[in-house]
Amino acid sequence: MRILVTGGAGYVGCATVETLLAAGHAVVVLDSLVTSSRGRLPAEARLVEGSVADRPAVAELLRSERIEAVLHCAARSLVGESMRDPGLYLRENVAGGIALLDALADAGVDRFVFSSSAAVYGVPERTPIDEETPAAPINPYGASKLALETALRAWGARGLRAISLRYFNVAGASERSGEAHDPETHLIPNLLAAARTGEPVTLFGDDFPTPDGTPVRDYIHVLDLADAHLAALERTEGIPAGLTVCNLGTGHGFSVKEVLAAAEAVTGRPIPRTVGPRRAGDPPVLVAANERARTLLGWTPRRSTLPEMIGSAWAWEQRRGEVPA
Ligand code: UFG
Repeated sequence: MRILVTGGAGYVGCATVETLLAAGHAVVVLDSLVTSSRGRLPAEARLVEGSVADRPAVAELLRSERIEAVLHCAARSLVGESMRDPGLYLRENVAGGIALLDALADAGVDRFVFSSSAAVYGVPERTPIDEETPAAPINPYGASKLALETALRAWGARGLRAISLRYFNVAGASERSGEAHDPETHLIPNLLAAARTGEPVTLFGDDFPTPDGTPVRDYIHVLDLADAHLAALERTEGIPAGLTVCNLGTGHGFSVKEVLAAAEAVTGRPIPRTVGPRRAGDPPVLVAANERARTLLGWTPRRSTLPEMIGSAWAWEQRRGEVPA
């Protein structure tokens, strides 16, 4: 299949590009390189620098590359930033996404896979969270993902067959792609930074209604996520027009303290920590029900253990020369 991956130079996009290439697909990457860099992309993927919001240019790219399916990973993806600048998130994630859908219609491409997020669920009343759980995002990031899902449903009237993958907590690294945001807000990179520097990591609250008082999340290895993207792209051939949503998680949660202990074991270093106040909007437990991913995609997570996720992230940081020998 000939596939366009938007945001393919980013963390999830690049790991998925590696998996798509290994499966024998031809990959073109469209990336603005605003929050990523070309360095991590494999040479076999053609990189086009540009914006998904440029409808004529994207339609021309889809035609000239004879693209059959689009994987849309390009997005702004920081919850805190979305609270400070909601307009950025609505412009780039929603308006940009709609321009991309128009370009698909212009070029006659009707297969689409979307990087969505468990952030669409907000603070759900019960876990595990299945796809029938009402969507009620509590921040502009989650609202922007839900808005583009709504658009995808509408584009079904034009024959678009779309699968939206709602990621839970993505972690770990592939050969070329690991997690590095600036500023970094995610737990595992922050734990590894504390192991590296000796500067304490802050645990955002230890008085949640969970067994050890710290929040529980469903962590999924980025390469398991990449496998699910490959399966979803192939599956778009057989589904009806419109939107099919699908959670991507393991169905099992780990607490912040469990992740910290695993990071100490992987790095062989003590991780200094302090306990701070809760972070606004952090629910106690977010765990996916993943039966749909198993049945719709024939997908099983294979690498999403704490030692594999944290170990691959630590090894990737070492490859980048961030850890003194
Ligand atoms: N945490 C800390 N200290 C840190 C960083 C995180 O204690 O330095 C805690 C958080 O309070 C949370 C857990 O570790 O309980 C995980 O936090 P992350 O920031 O790694 O991940 P989130 O669960 O907050 O965010 C994830 C995705 C978002 C998505 C959100 C809601 O990364 O994109 O789930 O579904 F919006």
